[in-house]
Amino acid sequence: MNQDAKQVVLIKSSPKMTEESTSGLLTDKLENLMKTERLEIYRINVRKSLIQGKTEADFEAMLKADALVFVFPLYVFCLPGMLMRFLQDYYAFGLNRPDRKKTRVYAVVNCGFTEAGINQEAVRVIKSFSQKTNYDFRFGIMIGGGGLLLGAQEAPFMKKTMTELGNSLKQIVYDIKNCPDDRVENISITMNFPRRLYHFMGNRGWFSMAKKNGLQKKDLYRKPYERYTD
Ligand SMILES: Cc1cc2nc3c(=O)[nH]c(=O)nc-3n(C[C@H](O)[C@H](O)[C@H](O)COP(=O)(O)O)c2cc1C
Repeated sequence: MNQDAKQVVLIKSSPKMTEESTSGLLTDKLENLMKTERLEIYRINVRKSLIQGKTEADFEAMLKADALVFVFPLYVFCLPGMLMRFLQDYYAFGLNRPDRKKTRVYAVVNCGFTEAGINQEAVRVIKSFSQKTNYDFRFGIMIGGGGLLLGAQEAPFMKKTMTELGNSLKQIVYDIKNCPDDRVENISITMNFPRRLYHFMGNRGWFSMAKKNGLQKKDLYRKPYERYTD
């Protein structure tokens, strides 16, 4: 291990276990960029860490890090529940540790809807976590229509978006390596794709999922809890 190299912990937090995830893709991209800049990387998969009971080892790595990068999907307009728990446990674990550093923190959030700004609240939660832990929150990358990255990243219409995304990920790497003090605004990445067509395709996905599970289209509109409201 190169003692002078910056230590980065990449924290992938998609609850998806076996399926490919957009967060996984973004974490891989970040890891590749960081390797070319000779940063030392430790990767955490939050779901595996919790299930396999290896949070303590992961928390130790986080305490030693120069930078933490949280990569996750938006769930119900905020963080996935397992990431909230992970952050709370880490806070309790590291609270009284004298060896804590002034770690830099970044958030990379992707959501299903096309509007990147929907991710703002989730970025704010990571910022608030950073303030509570006396870390240095730097900035977030907010990605709308994240699902398209998995299926269509090579398509010609995605070229501009992929360049913008690549540049924003490079900005994280630059920030970790060079430690500038100036404040950086959150970055929004929006897919260059017709919104109505995107929603149409999204709905098709729900219909085929229903069929796969032995349901019909009308079953998607059922309100099973409605009769318990009084
Ligand atoms: C339980 C759940 C809640 C979600 N909530 C939102 C939401 O509030 N807003 C949104 O735009 N997308 C929402 N999504 C969509 C995901 O953010 C989107 O599919 C994302 O690309 C998944 O990223 P991943 O592959 O990294 O897990 C939700 C998905 C799930 C499964």
